[in-house]
Amino acid sequence: MEKIAPEGLESQTTDDNGMELRFVTIDSITIPKHHPRSDYGNLATLQGSIKKDGLQEPLLVYVIEAGKFGIIDGARRLKAVQEMGLKQVSCLINKGISEADAAHLSYVKNVERKNLSVIEIARHIKAMRDDFGYTLRELELKGYGSPATTSIKLKLLELPDKVQMQLQDGSLTTGHGDALSKIPTQGEQERMAKRIVDFNMSVKKADAEITNYLSKKRKETTSEKSEIVPSGDVPGVYFKDARDMSELVDDSVHMIVTSPPYFIGKEYEIGITFKEHLENMEAVIKECARVIVPGGIIALNVADIVGFKEATESNNTQIKLMGHFYQSCMKKHKIYLTDEIIWSKRIAWRKISKTGQYYTADTVHTSYPIFNNWEPIYIFRAKGERELPSEEIILKSKLTKAAWGSFSDGVWKIEAVGSSEEHPCMYPDELVNRLIRMFSYVGETVLDPFLGSGTTVKVAREIERVGIGYEKELMYKPVIMRKLGLNPDAAVAVATTMTAYAKETMPPEEKVVQKIEPKAEFFGRMTHSEETEDLDDESYKVFSEYEALAALETFG
Ligand SMILES: C[S@@+](CC[C@H](N)C(=O)[O-])C[C@H]1O[C@@H](n2cnc3c(N)ncnc32)[C@H](O)[C@@H]1O
Repeated sequence: MEKIAPEGLESQTTDDNGMELRFVTIDSITIPKHHPRSDYGNLATLQGSIKKDGLQEPLLVYVIEAGKFGIIDGARRLKAVQEMGLKQVSCLINKGISEADAAHLSYVKNVERKNLSVIEIARHIKAMRDDFGYTLRELELKGYGSPATTSIKLKLLELPDKVQMQLQDGSLTTGHGDALSKIPTQGEQERMAKRIVDFNMSVKKADAEITNYLSKKRKETTSEKSEIVPSGDVPGVYFKDARDMSELVDDSVHMIVTSPPYFIGKEYEIGITFKEHLENMEAVIKECARVIVPGGIIALNVADIVGFKEATESNNTQIKLMGHFYQSCMKKHKIYLTDEIIWSKRIAWRKISKTGQYYTADTVHTSYPIFNNWEPIYIFRAKGERELPSEEIILKSKLTKAAWGSFSDGVWKIEAVGSSEEHPCMYPDELVNRLIRMFSYVGETVLDPFLGSGTTVKVAREIERVGIGYEKELMYKPVIMRKLGLNPDAAVAVATTMTAYAKETMPPEEKVVQKIEPKAEFFGRMTHSEETEDLDDESYKVFSEYEALAALETFG
């Protein structure tokens, strides 16, 4: 096959507008650097059609210099015929058009066909501005859109290459790119872009997340500047990754109550792959196993992942069961699953059934939505015998019959806490209160390696346990301080008292954390007034004495 012409093209013709139609050798045609198209996609289908039916219309070219032509419209077809090894192709030659006008015309032709990616458009606008000297206002008159929209497109070119490729291949839209432009560093932009794609976020959702993320970062920086208390000085709370809890000595924690990240795209999971997530969880569990006492208890609140996408089956979402993963990690350290509780979060179901929005005339039988309104709590026990405290402490710690009666039911109906500005997923105090009261003794140490907003430490201290927590994100420091009733001045005072107390009472080689007595960590007391309602006489007496003791401790 030597040459291909649109049907009916016999010989060269020239019209009054300086347009000439004739065969041109393919070697003499180039795609000029200002041509907007850079992604030609798969050419096989186009080549098949050219073979079968020939070119449906000539290529539109302009004269670069004598005997050399630049493509205005038909870059993809040119690539196709070049690969097919043709010698000549029919061209409509636009004589006397300037390079800038040719570049503009290429854009117009391609945009009409809607086959330019936003990055190709942005590069073209940049070339028109930088190489041909057009202002954004002039480009507006030529049909490139308002200066506001062209500026947004130009900003996309400042995003990292990886993100530009996602815009180019359509996994991200201009709206996403615009939202990402607000993020200051390229690393954060890449991580957020990955998250948008992984979780299939709409522009609105991505924009809201980015705004929230930036506002937290801003608060973090401002509070860092004006903070009197350095990050290490919220007593018992370490702002660091719990994969290293070297502040805690071996066998020093009696109970762990925690809710790890679920891998459901929360703000603190940005940029983490599923594999990394599992590795992180394994590493933290290893540290938990090191610090937990023999016979100690780990209460783990972690849900299965709804809408999980397997990398290999990207179009199929499913539920990823997670219980086995945690069970097998724990088992490696001789920590065994012994009980399960279902936390029924109620609120979701109530809200949904009230609005009725999910049952409509279009609701399909056999496809009724099931709402994700419960989560498991796994109770693990470490191998070994637990050391018992004094008789008095055992008595103080024991649940009343009434409390046991309600806790022993395996389904706990406890209202969920809504996502808030302060932290996106907090568990309710009541859940933690029940777990700690059921599975630890007064005065024991309770750890949360994924502290979040501080719920576990808050509740542990309210019910006279020593609360310790790790949180890797400093941005949650304000909410933790609020929950623990600490303002910076108070935190300094408490830290000083605790240090003095520790120095006074403990030889340095002792296991410091294990030995701190409850009074050193006592910042509050039972706030659940309903707790007293079901108490029998004897327990009420113990409870009242306890309250009196607590008041004495608090007010001197
Ligand atoms: C599900 S949230 C816990 C919420 C908490 N139960 C509450 O009521 O506020 C998990 C928390 O673990 C933190 N986190 C994730 N990985 C961590 C790690 N390796 N070390 C310490 N904290 C981590 C996250 O930043 C997040 O705040």
